[in-house]
Amino acid sequence: MKVFLAPMVGRTDKYFRKLARIISPNVVLFTEMITIDSLIRGNFKKYLIKDTEHPLIIQLAGDDKDKFIECTKIVSDQGFDEINLNIGCPSSKVVKGGFGACQIEEPAKVAEYVAAIKSQTQIPVSIKTRLGLGYDHDLKNIIEFIQTTSAAGCDIYYIHARNAILNGISTRKNRSIPPLRYHDVLKLKELFPQINIHINGGINNIDEIKNMLNIYDGVMIGRKIYDNPLFLTEIENIIFSNKNSFSIKDIVCEYISQLDSEEASNKQYALKHLTNLYKGTQLSKKWRIHLHNLINTSQPIDNIRNFYVENNYEEKKINCS
Ligand SMILES: Cc1cc2nc3c(=O)[nH]c(=O)nc-3n(C[C@H](O)[C@H](O)[C@H](O)COP(=O)(O)O)c2cc1C
Repeated sequence: MKVFLAPMVGRTDKYFRKLARIISPNVVLFTEMITIDSLIRGNFKKYLIKDTEHPLIIQLAGDDKDKFIECTKIVSDQGFDEINLNIGCPSSKVVKGGFGACQIEEPAKVAEYVAAIKSQTQIPVSIKTRLGLGYDHDLKNIIEFIQTTSAAGCDIYYIHARNAILNGISTRKNRSIPPLRYHDVLKLKELFPQINIHINGGINNIDEIKNMLNIYDGVMIGRKIYDNPLFLTEIENIIFSNKNSFSIKDIVCEYISQLDSEEASNKQYALKHLTNLYKGTQLSKKWRIHLHNLINTSQPIDNIRNFYVENNYEEKKINCS
């Protein structure tokens, strides 16, 4: 039974992952997508991971077998629990680079990348993809894609349950306009019972997660968790039977105490993901103003605690539920 935090550029950086892990010991985390070129240029340092982050999956994107081999050598010592290939990104920049969603139509090439990565490491290799391209809902291409890439050794797939529409709509609209087709992911699960199929896209309540976990090997959730990180407490309580209890203040204080000095000095990045913690409560606006002031003045990050003094208020414990 697995629940995954979806990879999200600009969101699932080390700061948000730290926050997520404090709230949820059980959810499997993903890095943001990193291109093989960027990793090779040396940007991998920011992916040095801490023990507390596990389980953690790195997501790579690219279109060059030798570079995938080089990247595998770079990341395999760093302790990632899985290497994931992004074959679902519809962004025009990514597609222009020849990778992402357009590679659904190049199963043989992707199979080569899978085999190349596997020749260098024992770490499992997985693929995150979509059901197909454009407005065609035929599953022929994705079936061929899974057949070919699984024959090369990939047996874990994360399926965003909609097509990608390239050249026409924005990346953002590609996350809402192509209709969700859970029934087609189910067909894939039935066709490939021996393969791990994790479902993704539009899942935003606990009952859905429970139902999906009865069918699929795992459930991946992105925006719902980012928009409301406390949803992770429900997942912990109901899906993983974790009865820990803590207040939002406990989460914030633990988060601040886990930042090293470099992270703490990077206030903009360190604080932006905390914005939604009080969403939907009467403190939401005051909290956002407090964070904004902290980021835009020379105050040390520790002053975040002043929020609780100024508001002279004791929080209820959240019973992970
Ligand atoms: C801001 C943002 C950035 C994203 N970046 C990535 C990414 O780096 N790699 C990827 O495979 N998917 C990316 N996605 C797609 C998500 O992983 C996920 O497939 C999508 O949001 C659908 O899941 P959800 O409805 O639970 O959010 C991104 C989504 C968002 C909202």
